[in-house]
Amino acid sequence: MHLTPATVRHRDAFLVMARDHRVAGADRYGRALEDFDVFLARILSQSRPSALPPGRVPQSHFWLLDDDQTRVLACGRLRHRLLPDLEVEGGHIGYDVSPAVRGRGVGTRLLALLLVEARRLALSRVLITCDDDNIPSRRVIEKNGGQPIAPTISPESGKSVRRYWVRTSQ
Ligand SMILES: CC(C)(COP(=O)(O)OP(=O)(O)OC[C@H]1O[C@@H](n2cnc3c(N)ncnc32)[C@H](O)[C@@H]1OP(=O)(O)O)[C@@H](O)C(=O)NCCC(=O)NCCS
Repeated sequence: MHLTPATVRHRDAFLVMARDHRVAGADRYGRALEDFDVFLARILSQSRPSALPPGRVPQSHFWLLDDDQTRVLACGRLRHRLLPDLEVEGGHIGYDVSPAVRGRGVGTRLLALLLVEARRLALSRVLITCDDDNIPSRRVIEKNGGQPIAPTISPESGKSVRRYWVRTSQ
């Protein structure tokens, strides 16, 4: 598996993954299906501090490709620093795996590769949060060395949120 910054080069593979999400009932990349170019321009602009609205931190988008680089298996987002609301929920890193390939170790590998990218940003540790009832995500974080800290309550969902510090070098 290979992590790449989001790029037009993998447009078709990304759209296959986006459709997999839609078919599975979570249309998280619906905007890409509507207009990929606008979607890509928007996510690429999120890494440029000059293009950000107040109260947002730069965030880089990465896609995980399979070995022959024909499929996008998963997506990751790396926020370059924290804000008080991200400390409650959101943290430095967010990720999702295509519903077509879950339960095969992809999420665990994705986070390991995102930690390498975090180290490149000189982050020695990252905060990662997940809903208390998201067992697969909890396992992904714990298998990457996550150390739990005090849980919080999500201001958005009212659900209990687990929070972990993860060192970027094991
Ligand atoms: C969370 C998510 C990224 C996990 O990706 P994945 O590729 O399925 O993860 P892995 O295959 O690496 O599995 C990680 C662990 O979760 C476990 N797991 C996977 N699916 C599971 C399920 N439905 N119920 C319980 N455990 C599950 C695996 O067994 C594995 O644990 P183990 O090593 O102890 O066996 C994926 O489910 C996803 O994209 N979910 C929707 C988005 C999301 O929740 N993102 C995280 C927000 S914090």
